[in-house]
Amino acid sequence: MDFLVKTGQLDTLRTDCLVVQVYADKSLSRSAQTLDEKYDLISRLRDLNELPTKVANCTWALPPAGAPFKRVLLICVGTTSQTLTRQNIKSAAQAVTKALKSKSIKNAVWSVENSSEVDSQVFAAIIAEAATSGVYTYSETKTQNVSTPALTKLTLHSIEKLDAAWRNGLQRGKYIGEGINTARHLGNLPGNICTPTYLAKRAQALAGGKLAVSVMDEKQIAKLGMGAFMSVAAGSDQPAKFIVMQYRGAAASNAPVVLVGKGITFDTGGISIKPGPAMDEMKFDMCGAASVLGVMTALQQLQPRKNVVGVIVATENMPSGKATKPGDVVTSMSGQTIEILNTDAEGRLVLCDALTYVERFKPKAVIDIATLTGACVIALGNHASGLFANDQALADELLAAGQAAQDRAWQMPLWDDYQKALDSNFADMANVGGREGGSITAACFLARYTKNYKWAHLDIAGTAWQGGGAKGATGRPVGLLMQYLLGENGG
Ligand code: BES
Ligand code: MN
Ligand code: ZN
Repeated sequence: MDFLVKTGQLDTLRTDCLVVQVYADKSLSRSAQTLDEKYDLISRLRDLNELPTKVANCTWALPPAGAPFKRVLLICVGTTSQTLTRQNIKSAAQAVTKALKSKSIKNAVWSVENSSEVDSQVFAAIIAEAATSGVYTYSETKTQNVSTPALTKLTLHSIEKLDAAWRNGLQRGKYIGEGINTARHLGNLPGNICTPTYLAKRAQALAGGKLAVSVMDEKQIAKLGMGAFMSVAAGSDQPAKFIVMQYRGAAASNAPVVLVGKGITFDTGGISIKPGPAMDEMKFDMCGAASVLGVMTALQQLQPRKNVVGVIVATENMPSGKATKPGDVVTSMSGQTIEILNTDAEGRLVLCDALTYVERFKPKAVIDIATLTGACVIALGNHASGLFANDQALADELLAAGQAAQDRAWQMPLWDDYQKALDSNFADMANVGGREGGSITAACFLARYTKNYKWAHLDIAGTAWQGGGAKGATGRPVGLLMQYLLGENGG
């Protein structure tokens, strides 16, 4: 989707649809006043109580005959011009995109007026991100009822000149939006298409310029001593892959942020097999990996001066005659042994070896992203990702990034008190700690492999996809991660 900025007269603008901001207190935006002066459009509607009065509500207005714009969409963006918050802008932009989509409008002009405390770059980025992710539809494996082509061009228009910040914001929002869509798309793909090999190919296709990609096969993974990862891959006929993507946007002396994504392309539970209902949703068990690919896609476009390493541990978790059994003991790359009491707790097994592997990057921070536990969904529902960290400053940065990107996380404890739940009679630790505090004991397991650097873990089991009628991947937490990596005005 294309985004443009334009300055000039509003009343003579030629477009399929003009989007005009209104406020619930019925004060008129500058553009509304301009339209009024020429066409007496807005105040007439106001007098009839026809203006939308709730944030993100919109109303269509028919411009008078002879007007150069075919339609007008009035969008309520706040109660007053001072209440243009990030949240309001985002919900307004989502509503506008949806409305334009419903009428198959291909290009539109949004008359912006920014009087909020949110600066123009942020304002533009939110609109571009919401519009880009708003037009996403899944069609890869559908031949029927594929939705109609959507909005392809959105122009931000102002009577006064729009400075470079607007353009920068649009760029940033567009590419973050595309990163989110990449993550959603990979998540939505069925497990028979989106295999570890497929993920590896997608990563390799991204390589070029500042981004180097390497993929290790099972032989190389075994040679590194990744016994925990290999024990999960043992039951699957699809070969496992360990994918490393290195984005070098800054001098080598700048320590990288390392992202590690759980890439279980289908989680049957293994020998500890899952019950049937909703098992199809376990194709989403690679959404952590998808979010890493989404971030790398956005970095490749935005080319920020940062060093970021993206790692994906990809395998299926399947039952078979070769599969790992409950009670089996395996040795992780760190040397620590693990008694596998439940083969369905496979995420931590693949992650622990990746977390040991990434020590070699001497990272500034390591963040793993994983659809790790059903217990996290019980604890936090679908609104917040679970955040665990061994460094409070890192946790605070991620919480703030989630807040700013409207892709929120909530911090959970990682206290040593929980560690003893992982005691085993036959190995250094068990891979499960019982039902109570299940997301915490899973994080405690990972904490045993991350002692040598600053680390955070995002449990996205509740946030990475939606069930029910709108079943599909959300692209979270690409927004949070990009905000953390770029900061407020980067990109
Ligand atoms: N991929 C699942 C976690 C999951 C479950 C995410 C449901 C979203 C919805 C993970 O591999 C898993 O199966 N975890 C087990 C752990 C348990 C065996 C300790 C779980 O949460 O039930
Ligand atoms: Mn599982
Ligand atoms: Zn899983």
